[in-house]
Amino acid sequence: MKKSLILFTLIVLIGIPAIAQYNYSNEAGLVTYGEAKLYSQAADGRQTGFRFPALPYTYNGLQPVIDSLTVAIHYNRHHRAYFDKFIAAVKGTPLETQPIEQIFANISQQPATIRNNGGGYYNHFLYWENMQVMQGASPTGDLAAAINKKFGSLDALRDQFGNAAKGLFGSGWAWLILNKDKELEVTTTPNQDNPLMDVAAVRGIPLLALDVWEHAYYLNYQNKRADYVDAFWKIINWDEVGRRYVEAMKKN
Ligand SMILES: [Fe+2]
Repeated sequence: MKKSLILFTLIVLIGIPAIAQYNYSNEAGLVTYGEAKLYSQAADGRQTGFRFPALPYTYNGLQPVIDSLTVAIHYNRHHRAYFDKFIAAVKGTPLETQPIEQIFANISQQPATIRNNGGGYYNHFLYWENMQVMQGASPTGDLAAAINKKFGSLDALRDQFGNAAKGLFGSGWAWLILNKDKELEVTTTPNQDNPLMDVAAVRGIPLLALDVWEHAYYLNYQNKRADYVDAFWKIINWDEVGRRYVEAMKKN
């Protein structure tokens, strides 16, 4: 009993400040959860640079869908390498203090190293955040209504999204986005491109990201990409996808 009281006190003492740092406002307005994780900021709210976001669970948190070694290597080596190379490329340039969405909106004017590593940095952030330890969740609220309206059912979205991911040639990403007409749409991008980039065939705001590079699944699934894509559906963090949907609907 005493142990649980101590544990509870520790959770409150550590947890409340941790939550609070992602929910503060400044002169620029409310800082969202995602932005606070991506950007380091001065006391006045100015973005001072980019940060490497923490993984939202432990390495074994996604098992058995994604094994712990894959998560550890994917996060610490692949994702970290994109971040380090992106930081090296933007250091000392005006890009260092630009929101990453703004950089992507003009990515055609940037060298390949910014496009590839900036995309790799941001896409993996979305990917980690849109998965969760709890399995078998479903969309709720406005997002659930939008899915039913556009696709007819969650199963129909799963099939369309899955087919897009399985059919993508080579390395790339599958996406559920909010397009310019404020409608849900399934799309894919090659390499580390994403739908925020001005080079994307279909542009929009990313809501759900699936990494279909072999490094995301090869240790556990080998060449069976389809099995990985199907299993991914069990660990989607629909609360996070729903939050992104609500945020995206507010944007012009
Ligand atoms: Fe990856």
